[in-house]
Amino acid sequence: MKITTIILAAGKGTRMRSELPKILHQIANRPLLKHVYDTAKQLENNSVSIVVGHGAELVTGALKELDANWVEQRQQLGTGHAVQQVSKQIADDDTVLILYGDVPLLRCSTLKSLVSCVNNQSLALLTVNLISPAGYGRIVRNEVGQVTKIVEEKDATTIEKQINEINTGIMAVQGKQLKKWLSQLNNSNAQGEYYLTDVIEMAVADQINIVTSQPETEDEVLGVNNRIQLSHLERVYQLEQANNLMEQGVTLRDPKRFDQRGSIVNLGQDIVIDINVILEGNNSIGSHVKIGANTCIKNSIIGDHVEILANCVIEDAEIGRGCRIGPYARLRPESVLREDVHIGNFVEIKKSSVATGSKINHLSYIGDTTVGSKVNIGAGTITCNYDGVNKFRTIIEDGAFIGSDTQLVAPVIIGKNATIGAGSTITKDSPDNQLTLSRAKQLTIAGWQRPVKKEK
Ligand code: UD1
Ligand code: CA
Repeated sequence: MKITTIILAAGKGTRMRSELPKILHQIANRPLLKHVYDTAKQLENNSVSIVVGHGAELVTGALKELDANWVEQRQQLGTGHAVQQVSKQIADDDTVLILYGDVPLLRCSTLKSLVSCVNNQSLALLTVNLISPAGYGRIVRNEVGQVTKIVEEKDATTIEKQINEINTGIMAVQGKQLKKWLSQLNNSNAQGEYYLTDVIEMAVADQINIVTSQPETEDEVLGVNNRIQLSHLERVYQLEQANNLMEQGVTLRDPKRFDQRGSIVNLGQDIVIDINVILEGNNSIGSHVKIGANTCIKNSIIGDHVEILANCVIEDAEIGRGCRIGPYARLRPESVLREDVHIGNFVEIKKSSVATGSKINHLSYIGDTTVGSKVNIGAGTITCNYDGVNKFRTIIEDGAFIGSDTQLVAPVIIGKNATIGAGSTITKDSPDNQLTLSRAKQLTIAGWQRPVKKEK
């Protein structure tokens, strides 16, 4: 069976009060439309068409990597009119699945069961029962419970308005039949629109079965019309991801205070994540990793037994097995830490590698540097890597000891097992195994007296 999915995404989204087309607003850093597309793409043998209108150029520009057939609906004359724009691309024996670009959390399993109900005698409709159905199209059934039509709120009678079963807008139907009914749509209704929902009555007239199914949860079929609904679905989505991680063996101190905006490409066991942690992009997290509160990690690889204490910001970094980071540490892009490295509070590392067992524990900036193994970098050490125009590298060889409050003015090499005296400004290479320091000699002035105030 070949599936053609049509995602309707031409609407304006006025209530978002935004310059951005609604479907480009994001859940977990992914546009609403991309969520729908990604779910649809999980269906096999499926080609996706997307109907765009408002902000069409912005939308196609932002999502040009999608493998989709983009169709423009210049005027938004209704959901039926939107589907008509794709009519020519529908083959007779396709199963056509219709989705909305602003309903982001639909599950693939729901789509699969919907699609599986379709044949040349049946059309499948996703419905849901709502306590407050106002605003939605209602599912009208006859005395024996068969669906006879969908009536839009604005066209509904007082009695029809009391129906709680609503149209989610999601349906699946055979291509040949859909094309026939689409060609018969008219706009003589309260809104003067071409309603896709009118195909239900036509199908019934053609003695087609209307099979309805319901999603596992109501949240699956909720649409986004404003930022309140957007935030609700963000939390629903985040909780789903959190539950998923817990099922895989991760301890989350509070699943309600955890955000994953991207994916975890590799996940170890017995990971413990404290509150307010944000994982962005693609991360890999080894086993027995602990992540402290308020830490943001983006596109990073974290080895086994790593402990990240509270309030760290880590991006495009690689952290080897057994490292201890933070609290309050910042690892910027291209930071590569080998095993058992300690990075302490108020330390910033950028484009630098630090070899096994080295420690940078307090108040330091290490940029464009190669740090060897078992190096100890004292508090307040700064690599002066930038002269205002060019960047230069610092090399600190194995076993070196850098005294506190030292500036290493790059390019410079600190030799193996070299010791740098505290408070030094090092501008020249320092030899292996020697003590090097640059510091004004300390002196004491004999007999010096502190001035005293004269009494009045
Ligand atoms: C539609 C359904 C209603 C259902 C509700 C569920 C119709 C006539 N009504 O109503 O039964 O309960 O969805 O949310 O189908 N769109 C286009 N082009 C258009 C019009 C709409 O692409 O010309 C897109 C919108 O961007 C949106 C979707 O279709 O993603 C639904 O449009 P919307 O205006 O929200 O439909 P409703 O009137 O709410
Ligand atoms: Ca709507």
